[in-house]
Amino acid sequence: MKKSHLRTVATAACTLALVAGLAACAPATSGNPEEPATGGTAPEAPAETPEADEFGVVLADSWKDIYPGQYATYKANESNSPDGKMNYLEEYPELTTMYAGYGFAKGYDEAASHSFTLHSISETPRVNDKTLANCITCKTPQFTAMVNREGDEVYARPFAEVLAQMSEPISCYNCHENDPTQVVVTQKHFANAIGADAANVPVEAQTCGQCHNEYYFDPDTKATSNPYTDLAGMDAEAILAYYDEMGFKDWEHPDTGAPMLKAQHPEFETIYGGEQSSMAKQGYSCADCHMAPVEDENGEYSSHELKSPLESPEVMEQCSGCHKDLEGEVRAWQKEVTDREHAIAADIKRYTDELAAQKDALDADKLAQAQQIQRHAQFYWDYVMVENSEGAHNYKAAHANLDKAEAQLEEGFKLLGIA
Ligand code: HEC
Ligand code: HEC
Ligand code: HEC
Ligand code: HEC
Repeated sequence: MKKSHLRTVATAACTLALVAGLAACAPATSGNPEEPATGGTAPEAPAETPEADEFGVVLADSWKDIYPGQYATYKANESNSPDGKMNYLEEYPELTTMYAGYGFAKGYDEAASHSFTLHSISETPRVNDKTLANCITCKTPQFTAMVNREGDEVYARPFAEVLAQMSEPISCYNCHENDPTQVVVTQKHFANAIGADAANVPVEAQTCGQCHNEYYFDPDTKATSNPYTDLAGMDAEAILAYYDEMGFKDWEHPDTGAPMLKAQHPEFETIYGGEQSSMAKQGYSCADCHMAPVEDENGEYSSHELKSPLESPEVMEQCSGCHKDLEGEVRAWQKEVTDREHAIAADIKRYTDELAAQKDALDADKLAQAQQIQRHAQFYWDYVMVENSEGAHNYKAAHANLDKAEAQLEEGFKLLGIA
């Protein structure tokens, strides 16, 4: 286990270990909480930083000879391409009703690796000539550098014009700026949203969380923003309350008139927000599970090929002490969550169709209430479905949110007079 990631929550780790009857305190108590939050295995800073591009970004290719292992594994992400990925619209046929009137009803494929961000965004049917540059927020370090240099007004520029200037998919700068001996959060909106709680989560999780999160575009400035101000607020119910409070909607459902929300990819919130996952409480970072420690002709380093822990023998080695059959556990957690997602999707579609049919006959109060139920039920469901681990990151939180979606629907069916 990598000790550097286990400094901030050592106490919680010991409590959990005792409860679970697991002897895990020793590695977790090492490390100094005052230690700066950077990658523990970081080598000396390079003698010379290669030249940056016009945005101020040192491109990945320029680090090739200085960090050959990290570079080679970073390039290996190219094997995880969009080819053969799941089409959510086929997997969940109810989505054409649920997302009706919104771009996601036109095309929604499972994610590919970081190598394909510019490719995916230039191909997606979800953009049109009104799309703004804020959609490029998590796709390329050049855009991040542009926002950091020129300010938030960059977000409101036309999408096509800005995208045409970008050439590098997610790379070193996104997580290291121009100094790979440090792990950093380059996107200021996420750093601001985490606030003082930055001290309570490993930076090797925050650097992933700066993109793998739930966000919205500020209706006035168009700036990419997060709907919370601390870890406690990173929970589906609290996020929903935040959006309700500000009267935010992503779109209006054409059949029912409901003010709808689209959840994004709340990996960070699901693991580190609210009550946190068991592994988060034990101090694990995203890198601990997704970046294997490797040793080869390039020396010892962290693999930058981001993949499932189940596919990394070097990671699995560090889990087997506690998880005798992690793969079996993960597949079981995923199946239970996915089965419920399918069942609840069918109910959301049924509710939406029923509301559309009754809409004109309902009085204003009852209609508003019924629309609110559609908004809430679908948000709880979406928040779980679009989280990329299919329940593995925090199956308890996934079930709690699906319970809330079900409770909403039950109330809604009653309201519409259906059993
Ligand atoms: C998506 C985020 C991300 C990107 C992109 C990224 N890194 Fe890293 N890098 C990390 C994290 C997180 C760590 C710390 C890993 C750990 O401690 O387990 C790290 C660690 C490192 C280290 C410290 C030594 C080690 O291997 O642990 C170096 C050097 C490094 N990265 C170089 C690079 C270079 C060069 C690139 C581009 C070719 C790059 N990184 C791209 C996230 C990233
Ligand atoms: C700059 C934004 C950004 C950062 C930082 C980032 N990601 Fe991503 N990540 C993305 C985007 C966007 C995609 C989807 C790419 C696509 O489909 O075009 C993605 C895709 C992935 C995938 C592939 C998903 C799949 O289904 O195959 C994994 C795994 C992943 N990220 C893990 C991580 C980890 C771990 C970190 C931190 C070390 C990290 N990411 C940091 C934006 C980011
Ligand atoms: C305790 C270990 C653990 C931590 C911490 C963790 N993950 Fe995962 N992650 C998993 C597992 C297990 C899966 C499911 C893998 C599978 O289905 O094969 C997964 C799946 C994913 C996926 C879907 C793509 C894939 O490879 O299956 C993405 C994207 C992802 N994680 C990103 C993140 C990000 C971002 C963070 C931090 C905010 C993070 N993970 C933290 C264990 C972890
Ligand atoms: C010190 C013991 C220990 C180690 C080591 C350990 N785990 Fe866990 N893990 C637990 C416990 C306890 C739970 C909670 C189990 C439950 O809720 O049924 C858990 C839960 C999980 C979950 C479910 C999500 C969550 O966090 O609640 C995932 C995924 C997971 N572990 C992955 C991993 C991976 C990957 C590794 C190796 C990198 C690992 N674990 C190492 C003890 C451990």
